[in-house]
Amino acid sequence: MAELQHTPRVVLVTGAAGFIGCNAVRHLLAADAALRVVSLDLLTYAGSRANLTDVERDHPDRHRFVRADIRDAAAMERLFAEEPIDTILHLAAESHVDRSISDPAAFLETNVMGTYVLLEAARKAWAERDDVRFHHVSTDEVFGSLGAEGRFTEATPYNPSSPYSASKAASDHLVRAWNRTYGLPATLSNCSNNFGPFQFPEKLLPLMICRALAGEPLPVYGDGRNVRDWLYVADHCSALWRIVCHGVDGRTYNVGAENEWTNIDLVRQVCKLLDELRPKPTRSYADQISFVTDRPGHDRRYAIDPKRLRDELGWHSPVPFRQRLRDTIEWYIGNAKWVKAIQSERYDGRRLGLPGGQKP
Ligand code: NAD
Ligand code: DAU
Repeated sequence: MAELQHTPRVVLVTGAAGFIGCNAVRHLLAADAALRVVSLDLLTYAGSRANLTDVERDHPDRHRFVRADIRDAAAMERLFAEEPIDTILHLAAESHVDRSISDPAAFLETNVMGTYVLLEAARKAWAERDDVRFHHVSTDEVFGSLGAEGRFTEATPYNPSSPYSASKAASDHLVRAWNRTYGLPATLSNCSNNFGPFQFPEKLLPLMICRALAGEPLPVYGDGRNVRDWLYVADHCSALWRIVCHGVDGRTYNVGAENEWTNIDLVRQVCKLLDELRPKPTRSYADQISFVTDRPGHDRRYAIDPKRLRDELGWHSPVPFRQRLRDTIEWYIGNAKWVKAIQSERYDGRRLGLPGGQKP
């Protein structure tokens, strides 16, 4: 195991009521019984306090939820005055590529300006401290698209394609600048596509599971040959914690499970598992697959080389992918009420991200 670089005591998790955030809060509280976690979230369409129900019930002494906007400098300053935060796990963001195509403003405001406000609040609050760390969670999408060969390393040049990935690239540069210019202790990670419990059903896997079960068409963009590199969310959380505690100041780590799938093969795999778990009387769920207009600027292939994380910090993805996918499908089947609440209040499953006039 790599040398300990940082010992967190009070962790601020931003975006804690979102998909990765709520899984991360659970992971942290289980990983260290002495840890206090402050969960911050604005509760946009993507975040829900219901994602933290068990956490709030089970850890009233070690956990606090704060509804706040990372763009609100006064609120961030107040929070640092109220809580002796020594670690920030920064996940809050607008996260959906298709929404960034239809409406980019919120992406620049939260992902760029929100990160700036948070960095400044941390810099001021931590001026006299060196036992602190800001960990910024970013994406492999900052590197742009790969061809058929090669993988992203930490040295791959930035080349973002979408408003989302451009805003995340900007936020990465800000974190590095605050580390180099002001000496703010910071680490970064860029990871591939996550999947698992509590993912908002606008993203490929939960969207396909929910639409399949509802008997609706399964919209695969373009020719379905785009490749994504899939990582189970709990494994991402364990990697994040390893980096927060053992990562070297100023360093970036790529996180991935070496698990590439074309979209069409993955959707077919979901259909096959659903055929086993919830068989239909006659046909396969695969009959619902429908090819639709491609996403504008759609990156062809992502693939992470996780060598640094493995060699320097000893992290690897432990459980076989197919089991993780089956668990995820079972989670969505078992949490139909959670899905229904989102569908009736926040997102009805419609196609997002086509500029005006373009047909699905
Ligand atoms: P998500 O959309 O599920 O959650 C984001 C959370 O941030 C939501 O709860 C939302 O309410 C909150 N939020 C948004 N704007 C806010 C603001 N101004 N102030 C406070 N809270 C705000 O996203 P996710 O999939 O959990 O992603 C979390 C982070 O991980 C993001 O930074 C994303 O870029 C990054 N990431 C995600 C993936 C993935 O596959 N999901 C992969 C790589 C990186
Ligand atoms: O790579 C990491 C990124 O993964 C994260 O930074 C983002 O926050 C996260 O949303 C995700 O971005 P993607 O654009 O890769 O995820 P999405 O689930 O939207 O799409 C995955 C692939 O599936 C992509 O190639 C587009 C395709 N797709 C998506 C949807 C929603 C379809 O074919 N049909 C769909 O309906």
